[in-house]
Amino acid sequence: MRNYVIKGNICYSRTRKELCIVENGYVVCRDGKSAGVYELLPESYEAFPCYNYENKIVIPGLVDLHVHAPQYPFRGLGMDQELIDWLNTHTFVEEAKYADLDYAGRAYDIFAEDLRNSATTRACVFGTIHADATLLLMEKLENAGITAYVGKVNMDRNSPKCLCEESAERSAGDTQRWLHDSRNFKHVMPILTPRFTPSCTDELLEKLSELQKRYHLPVQSHLSENLGEIAWVKELCPGTEFYGESYDRYGLFGNSCPAVMAHCVHSGEAEMDLMKRRGVFVAHCPESNANLVSGAAPVKLYLERGIRAGLGTDIAAGSSLSIFKAMAAAVQCSKLRWRLYDQSVAPLTVEEVFYLATKGGGEFFGKAGSFEEGYEFDAVVMDDSSIRSPRELRVRERLERLIYLAEDRHIAAKFIGGREIFRER
Ligand code: GUN
Ligand code: FE
Repeated sequence: MRNYVIKGNICYSRTRKELCIVENGYVVCRDGKSAGVYELLPESYEAFPCYNYENKIVIPGLVDLHVHAPQYPFRGLGMDQELIDWLNTHTFVEEAKYADLDYAGRAYDIFAEDLRNSATTRACVFGTIHADATLLLMEKLENAGITAYVGKVNMDRNSPKCLCEESAERSAGDTQRWLHDSRNFKHVMPILTPRFTPSCTDELLEKLSELQKRYHLPVQSHLSENLGEIAWVKELCPGTEFYGESYDRYGLFGNSCPAVMAHCVHSGEAEMDLMKRRGVFVAHCPESNANLVSGAAPVKLYLERGIRAGLGTDIAAGSSLSIFKAMAAAVQCSKLRWRLYDQSVAPLTVEEVFYLATKGGGEFFGKAGSFEEGYEFDAVVMDDSSIRSPRELRVRERLERLIYLAEDRHIAAKFIGGREIFRER
């Protein structure tokens, strides 16, 4: 059913400052897209079936711009190190297991099911270097109904033998085969995924650049997450002024190559300037940045400068798959950053984190993450009745409280691109 109406308290962002709330209103889904939000239902939509969620809160789906599916099995474990040691001690060891399709199948079943049951409607997902396991992940996400970009990871240097592709040629060849085999999904799309500059040779990035041009693919990677990592990239890439240039010199950094870069905790002026000019998206992952003591990204500054940004969970450097938790962490992280070392950049507001989690990240998928007319119809109905309080709360307050207190069990219905994922009756 692609034509219907949802009745409830409709909340969505127009801009980072403008949160629109229509209490006891209607949002219309027509052909999988939003046909607008109304206080009174126009006559022309009266024939559409109406799902009545009076008194519940209806939001556009949440967008996770950065998540590592194969790391889900060790979420909540082993966060006692900084990035590079954490990768070598915990992450690469886990990811190597995905050579075994049986293990991959069991792990990805859990990941896909949990993502389906969450408030996340769209995600940018890392797999591993293994093409077959990544196809399996894509299949499971497709079956779960999630709209996602999924990447087979590329890494041909500075990686343990069990998780290092034999050569740039082999890595690119496997990627091409994987691209061919992933053509037939409807809602899951491939994205080029060089892990990060330290694990990709120049030759590999050159080959990925050719694939990008041939197939017009987007790209996802990591950028300026950790100070040691940044110094390492400078050593590995003589002649570059800043980390982002190591991708940009291969045309993998925005413009005709849509790009989402996780973290950008320590991006300097020149890097920010290039991200803005190229329309590169920042995936801000505040929980991960705290767990791996990476630092606190100046996300408010990115927004003020017109740099595109959304939120990521960065499982398993982040422990939770919940974008609500990422919203709360983003506000908290911005407050500590302001208090501890930079009072020129104000903390994020509730309006701003809600925007980041919906429309900010959604724009990586085109028109997604809002209920404005013409946007993909992604909707999540939140039931906050079990968050008890004797106070009478306005809808704006209830939404704010959801950011801090929401759990998956509070979701009454979920729709993506007009498709019903589940619905309480
Ligand atoms: N940089 C390169 N790989 C990773 C990863 O798996 N997680 C995080 N947080 N940063 C990375
Ligand atoms: Fe990551």
